Amino acid sequence: MSFWCPFRPTSTNTMTSNAALDNTRILVVDDEPDLRTLYELTLLREGYGVETAGSLAEAFEHLSERRFDVVITDMRLPDGLGMELIQFIKVQKRRERCVVITAYGSAENAVESLKAGAFDYLTKPVDLKQFRDVIASAVQDSKSRAGAAGRSVAPPSRAGEAALTRLVGMSSSMRLVKERIVKVACSMAPILVTGESGTGKELVANAIHANSHRAGGPWVAVNCSAIPENLLETEFFGARKGAYTGSTQDRDGFFQAARGGTLFLDEIGDLPLAMQSKLLRAIQERCIRPIGSPQEEAVDVRIVSATHKDLATEVHAGRFRQDLYYRLNVIQILIPPLRERREDLPALCETLLRRIALESGIEVPTLSDALLVQLAGDPLPGNVRELENLLHRAVALSEEDELQIEPSTYQVLNHETAVTTTEPAVLDDNQITIPSDLQSHLDSAEREILIRALRESGFNRTAAAARLGLSLRQMRYRIARLHIDTPHTGDFSDEPV
Ligand SMILES: Nc1ncnc2c1ncn2[C@@H]1O[C@H](COP(=O)(O)OP(=O)(O)OP(=O)(O)O)[C@@H](O)[C@H]1O
Ligand SMILES: [Mg+2]
Repeated sequence: MSFWCPFRPTSTNTMTSNAALDNTRILVVDDEPDLRTLYELTLLREGYGVETAGSLAEAFEHLSERRFDVVITDMRLPDGLGMELIQFIKVQKRRERCVVITAYGSAENAVESLKAGAFDYLTKPVDLKQFRDVIASAVQDSKSRAGAAGRSVAPPSRAGEAALTRLVGMSSSMRLVKERIVKVACSMAPILVTGESGTGKELVANAIHANSHRAGGPWVAVNCSAIPENLLETEFFGARKGAYTGSTQDRDGFFQAARGGTLFLDEIGDLPLAMQSKLLRAIQERCIRPIGSPQEEAVDVRIVSATHKDLATEVHAGRFRQDLYYRLNVIQILIPPLRERREDLPALCETLLRRIALESGIEVPTLSDALLVQLAGDPLPGNVRELENLLHRAVALSEEDELQIEPSTYQVLNHETAVTTTEPAVLDDNQITIPSDLQSHLDSAEREILIRALRESGFNRTAAAARLGLSLRQMRYRIARLHIDTPHTGDFSDEPV
């Protein structure tokens, strides 16, 4: 087993046919890339599936491949007039409703297009509210013509409900998170899940998948921070036989594995810039080129990403591409930190204790009111993950029937301790010397910090990771990279990859 292996497909079925029927698809035709992107992102945010074309020829190609509900076209295109599309759709008796975008002041064009069969027109500069309203009516009209029921939100499936139940918490903010999951699950729009470390981003992402039309398709979760940079491209896009020495057969990447399903890009904020541009291209063009392949492959994948970083700040600092940020952040779900939803603590403790009891083969321990009060007073900077670790340790260390959290145990994961113990190692000005080899200097500093955090957490990697603000996988990767030996005693809350 490699430490960084982040690839966990759980199902290989393809998308159900109902899913395809329910999806609303819109074709946007405009030769101006910025406008195309603006329309596309606005529509994705509304939950529609969108394809784009920059010319008449491209638009015809899309129309020959599939049916759409609505075609939005600019009047003037480099190889002809949008009018030709309207006429084609009319002559072919296709169901697409056309919305034409005309230049300000060209009323004749607008009237002409309506006469030719356009559903409506908009003038530039387009007012986005009006744009959304006109498109919604066009979609409605197209659906009713096709005899379809329209864009209905189906009640959650069993798997969808189960995934929402796994996400414990009925505080008003968690209710909102769950409502949003159901609302946006069925759109094709990329979703960015944000929130502090340990707030349950992966659970939310998985609930989106389970509540989407793609629930029957694969769920592929990838930890972007755990893949060595030189392997990123192969891992994402796959490689063809003979692409490099020793590659004797074709190898699929995450995109191929997630076809018809959801690709969850965890810790997206840690993706190196060079890979960010390749990912942007794959998402925008909806096609990839495996290493060593002369051809591109189309991929039908829904992207959900997550990060505990503030991506807007990352963009500002030049560490994250702005265009990719806009692409991924079409819909955002922010999970509030646990300290802002204390009312979820009792239910969370109960679920976590049940989980721990099941894993350890013991009876479910009782949680006293006093302990709940104690937990409610803790800032829990590592959120639910930290709570889980605290309870793990409490279960392992309590000798009485009733759970107790010893102050010493409590301190190990206490935020203030973490801050005061980790800061001087890095920030003390007097200790900074200019090293002749920065990388090995940083490695040895990192090694020292990791060993110290591990030692002070009783060599519990989960606890040490939470203390350092790392995910368990990041911690494992670092431990492996720096060849740190950890005794396995006390590592009871380590979870499998
Ligand atoms: N609302 C919740 N209900 C039940 N378990 C939860 C909830 N939120 C988080 N957890 C549990 O807490 C742990 C951390 O959750 P998760 O890995 O999803 O966090 P995260 O937000 O992705 O953190 P990070 O940014 O560090 O990766 C997991 O074991 C998860 O099952
Ligand atoms: Mg995570």
